Order: sequence, then structure tokens, then C-alpha cells
Amino acid sequence: MKGLIIGGLGIFHVFLAQFAIGGGMLMCYFQWLGQSGRDRLGIMRKFIDDYFKYLVLICFVTGALTGVGMWFTSIQISPRTIGLMVTEFHWLWATEWTFFCLEVVAGYAFFRHGKTLPDSIRLQLLLTYTIAAWFSLFWINGILSWQLTPGTWTQSRNVWDGFFNPSFWPSLLFRTIVCMVIAALSACVVINTLPLPRETRSRLIFHSSHFLLPMIVMPALGLWFVAVLPVDSRQWVMGGSVAITLFMNIAVGASVLIAGYAIVGLYWQRLTINGATATLLLLLAFGATAGGEFVREGVRKPYTVRQTLYSNSMTPNQITEFRQVGSVTNDPYPLLNEERYPSEQIRLGAKVYRLQCSVCHTQHGVNGLTHLTATWTESQRRMNIAKLQHTKNFMPPFAGPPEEVEALVQWLAWVNAHEPSEWPISNDPDVLEQIAKWLHEASDY
Ligand code: HEC
Repeated sequence: MKGLIIGGLGIFHVFLAQFAIGGGMLMCYFQWLGQSGRDRLGIMRKFIDDYFKYLVLICFVTGALTGVGMWFTSIQISPRTIGLMVTEFHWLWATEWTFFCLEVVAGYAFFRHGKTLPDSIRLQLLLTYTIAAWFSLFWINGILSWQLTPGTWTQSRNVWDGFFNPSFWPSLLFRTIVCMVIAALSACVVINTLPLPRETRSRLIFHSSHFLLPMIVMPALGLWFVAVLPVDSRQWVMGGSVAITLFMNIAVGASVLIAGYAIVGLYWQRLTINGATATLLLLLAFGATAGGEFVREGVRKPYTVRQTLYSNSMTPNQITEFRQVGSVTNDPYPLLNEERYPSEQIRLGAKVYRLQCSVCHTQHGVNGLTHLTATWTESQRRMNIAKLQHTKNFMPPFAGPPEEVEALVQWLAWVNAHEPSEWPISNDPDVLEQIAKWLHEASDY
């Protein structure tokens, strides 16, 4: 399931990249504590250097690598979507890269020379790193949130309408807090690996716990985010889709657990935290990030850019066109092992599956079409595929003439029958006429 590859890699990338930002913020805070005389024990400089070396640098390198990975997978899987994003936000994306470049240079400069620099220059370097990192989030956040809530851009096509779209601010503020939480929890893990006396350790943990306090405003930001979602997307989060609701609850539940421990335990009661618990909380934070990203990707269906581009890379106008001329009539790509298909009709069905369904469905595996349609009769299959967007509103409308629906239905039946070498051709005019009626009933395309 191709779509899942982008999503899966995206979760790692987002987690690492947000960590790199939050890590910068935490180091600025600690450096400031150190040089403004609040560090009675004189431990900050050493801790910052350790934290940077082991964690921030790891995230910074793996974050950059998975970022390149994101480009690579999106270009393979959904070139049209990424193409539209690059076309619409060309210069804003270039701006994001200049900030990213500054982040990388400042980060490496700190890594190479931080230890020998005086405090004030260290702070300047760390601030440069952090501000640049946060601004790369600022720019990319506008582009990603535009995919879900393009707002007035759909009419005006103005780049700033798209960028400062309805979910821009709740999403940016929410992500900023997530950055801080990941940084604080990872700091607690690192603190526990260092050979420090007990008092020093609790002091560092207490300072880190300040970065967990903003979690208090997360529920309000979450509600703001849900409130700006389009009505159909909101209904999925509120129970319309079992999977999305479940992931949403995992994200919320994990966040509540972290916030409860942080605020009541670490801050209020001034407990310390051991390495195992800190790691567990960090894993929970990863779970919450994964749940949240899944929901963000999930509620966008059936679009990759709402109202503009469907998940299978078709525009609404193209659906009208494909209903007339066929979706794969001009598909230049051959099928793999073409000779194994028993007829032209089954070959047509396989191509329609590849173009219109394979971004979200496999044949036999995850979200596999054979499982989903196993108990359906042939005429149920015809109707439900012809009325695809009503069968489940995660799906785009079917984009082809009745002959393509029938070819897909026959291909499915053939796959279900374990791909025999002979298969009858189905071209009954009454069947095709009935499918045409269903296609027409389902939409205006
Ligand atoms: C944007 C992603 C997407 C695309 C494209 C897509 N589907 Fe789906 N489809 C889904 C999701 C998500 C479900 C829900 C699965 C579930 O309920 O577990 C689903 C469910 C189904 C079901 C089961 C419906 C039911 O009520 O149980 C069938 C059959 C199906 N899809 C067929 C197709 C066919 C055929 C195509 C291509 C013409 C297609 N889908 C294209 C995402 C998609």
C-alpha cells in the first residue's frame, strides 16, 4: 500500500525533525540558565555538550536523511501531488531551505567549536540554530496544512491565502509544543545515562520539566484544530471512521498520560524520573506523534489537496474526462508480466486497479480488495464500485466508463478465483447499461 509508505516514513521524519527543533530550544534555555548565574552547580555547559552530541546531532542527521527520503518516496508514489505543492509554493519552499541551510551550518559550527567558545557566543550560535530550525517548521507547516484546509485559496489561488490557511496557526503552535515535549523527555533520558550525583540529576530534571508545562494548552489547540477542519473530516475524527477515531484516541490518551506525569509528578511534587520511565514516556510521545500524523493524513482522504487533487492523483475535471474516454486509454505503462492475464478485459481491469485504487489498496494484504469484497455478489461489486464515493466517503468517485467498472469487477473475480488461465469475457449490454445508471446516480461527473 503505497500511501502508507509516505505516511510511515513521515512519522519518523516529523518526530526527528521536531526533536531537532525542541532540542535547540532546550539548549538555549539551559545555556541561558548557565550564563545568567542560575546554575549554582556549574553543570549546564557540560550537559549541553553531551546532549547535543548524543541526541540533537543524531536527530539532526537522521532528520535530514529521512527528509531526503520523503522527497524520494513522494516523487515515486505521488508525483502529481508533490508537483502541485512545488509549483504553488515554489519560493516559499526555497525560503524554507535557506532556513534549513542556516540550521545545518549553525548546528555543525556548534558541534565543531562550541566547547571552546565563550558563553555569549555559544548562546548566539544556539539561538541561530533554534530560530532557523523553528522557521523551517513555520514554512513547511503552511504548505502541509494547506493540503488539508486550503481555505479561500481554492477560489483565489493566491499563495498567501493558501499558506496562512485555516489550520496554519493551531497546527504551528501545537507542533511547537510537541517539539518542546520531545526535547524535555529525551533530556530526561540523557540525564539518566550520565554519571552525575543525585542532586545534580534532580536539578537538571526539574529544569527540563519546565518544557513540559505548555502541554496544558494542548487541549485548547487540539479543539481549535478540529474546529477548523471541514465538516466531513471532522465527522471522521468524531467517530465516523473507526480507525481514525481510534488513532485520535491513542494520540490524546498518550498525551494525557505524559502531561499528567510531567505536571503532577515532575513539576508539582518534584519527583525525579529514572531512565526506564523517561524512555517509556518518550515512546509514548512517539506513539502520540504517530497517532496524530495518521489522523492528519487520514482526515484528508479522498484528497491529497482538498477539493483540488484526489489521492489517486486525479483532478475533478479529469474525472469528467475519464468518464468519457476511459482512465487508462492513454496509460503508457505496460503491466508486469502481461502474458499472465487471460484476456484484454482482465488486463484493462488490472490497469484500472493500478491507476485508481492501488494508492490505498493492495490486492491481498493491507486494506486488500479481495478481503473487502469477498462476501459480495457480482452485482453488489458492480454497484459499490460504480458508486465508490458513496460506498465509503474516503474514496474518490470512480473515474471511467461502465466498461472499466466491469473490467475491474471481472479482474477482482479472477484474482479471487486464484488467477486461472481461462476467464469468460463479460460484455452483456444490459449489465453495462445498469452500471452506467449507477455511475450517473452517484455523481454529476
Ligand atoms: C484514497 C484512498 C482510496 C482509494 C483511491 C480507493 N479506496 Fe477503497 N477504501 C479506502 C478506505 C480507507 C476504505 C475503508 C476500509 C475499511 O473500512 O476498513 C475503502 C474501502 C473499500 C471497499 C470496501 C467497502 C466496504 O463498504 O466494506 C472496497 C470494495 C473498495 N474500497 C474498493 C475500491 C476500489 C475498487 C478502488 C479503485 C477504483 C478504491 N477502493 C479506491 C480507500 C481508498
